[in-house]
Amino acid sequence: MPANAPGRTTTFHIGPASQELTRAALAAVQAPSILNTQPWRWRITHDAALLYADQRRRLPILDPTGRLLVLSCGTALHHACVTLAADGADFEVEPMPDDGDPDLLAVVRHRGVAEPSARAQRQRRAIRVRRSDRRPFATRPVPQESLDRLCRAAQRTDARLQMTWSRDLADLAVAAGQATDVLLGDPQYRAELAAWIRQPGEGHDGVPVDTLAPLGARPVPIRDFTAVGVGANVVSRVDICDPEARYGIVVTDGDGPHDWLTAGVALSAVLLTATAEHLATSPMSDLVENEVARRTLRRMLGGVGYPAIGVRIGVPATSTPPPRAPRRPAAEVIEVVADEAGPPQSQPPEGA
Ligand SMILES: Cc1cc2nc3c(=O)[nH]c(=O)nc-3n(C[C@H](O)[C@H](O)[C@H](O)COP(=O)(O)O)c2cc1C
Repeated sequence: MPANAPGRTTTFHIGPASQELTRAALAAVQAPSILNTQPWRWRITHDAALLYADQRRRLPILDPTGRLLVLSCGTALHHACVTLAADGADFEVEPMPDDGDPDLLAVVRHRGVAEPSARAQRQRRAIRVRRSDRRPFATRPVPQESLDRLCRAAQRTDARLQMTWSRDLADLAVAAGQATDVLLGDPQYRAELAAWIRQPGEGHDGVPVDTLAPLGARPVPIRDFTAVGVGANVVSRVDICDPEARYGIVVTDGDGPHDWLTAGVALSAVLLTATAEHLATSPMSDLVENEVARRTLRRMLGGVGYPAIGVRIGVPATSTPPPRAPRRPAAEVIEVVADEAGPPQSQPPEGA
C-alpha cells in the first residue's frame, strides 16, 4: 500500500543526529562561493549529511574544470563541520567517497556526542557576520599575531595559507593584471560575469552591485565585476588606496578535485578565523582563473604546491559592514530524508 493511501497513517521520524546535521547544512548556506553561485546540495539521512556539487551552477567560461565550484563546496563543508563541532557533535568526514557519483563530494557521518569546541563556537559566531568586503581597508597594519592565527587555521586542514610579503607585490600585481587582461578581453567571460551581477534585493544568488567597491588605484587590482574593459585597472592617480591590505594564497599539494575541496575547507577556516579576529577579507580567484596568471603565482611561490585562491585581508575601515549577499532558500539546497515509522517528530531544528 502506498504511504499516502487512505486508511494508512505514516509517521516520519527525524532523529537528533539528523536534526544536528540539518542545522549544520543550514549554517553552510551562508558559505561564500564563486560569484555567489552556491553550487551545492545537501541530502540529510538519519546519521549522515551528503554534500553534492550542483553542476548546473558551474560557470562554464570562468570555471571550465569546476575547480572553483568544488572549492566553493569546500567552504560549505567547513561551515557545516564548524557548526557540528560547536554544537558538541562527534562526527567524521569522508571526502570524495568513491561510490560512482563524481558529484558526491563528501559524507559527514554523525557518531554521537563530543565536547563542544570553543574554537568552533568562535567560528560559528563568525559565520553569522562574515561578508566579503571589497572596500579599501583602514590604513592600519594587520597585526602579525592575527596573520599567524590565520596560517595556523589553514594548517589544521590539509592545505596552507602562504602570506605574501612586500617583495611579492610586483608578482601579485602582474598576476592580477594578466588575469584582468585575459578575462576582460574575452566577451564570453564578460557576458558570464554580467549574468551573475544583481541589483540590490534581486534574487537569491549572484553578486549584488551594492557589495562591489570602486576599483581605485590598488597595489593589487581586485576583480573588475563591472567589466568595463581592459585597462580599467590601470593606476590613474597618485593616491594608492588599500596600502595596508595583506594577501594570502591558499596552497595545496596537488591539483585534483580532492585538493580543490581541501582548498575550500582551508579558505573557510581562514575567512572565519579572520572574521573572529575582527579583520575584513575578500577572496580573489581571478588570480588563478587564468593559466598565465596562475603560473606567475606558482613562480612566486617557488614552484612548491598549487595556488588555489587568493585572500585579501585587512583592518576594516569602518564598523559598518558591507551589504549582505542573498542566499538561496534552504529548501532548494537541503533535502531531509526522514525515517519511516519511528516515534513522532520532535522539535524541528531551529531555523529550519
Ligand atoms: C571560490 C571563490 C572565489 C571567489 N572569487 C572572488 C573574486 O575573485 N573576487 C571577489 O571580490 N570575491 C570573490 N569571492 C567572494 C564571492 O563573490 C562571495 O563569497 C559571494 O558573492 C557571497 O558573498 P559573501 O562572501 O559576502 O557572503 C569568491 C568566493 C569563493 C568561495
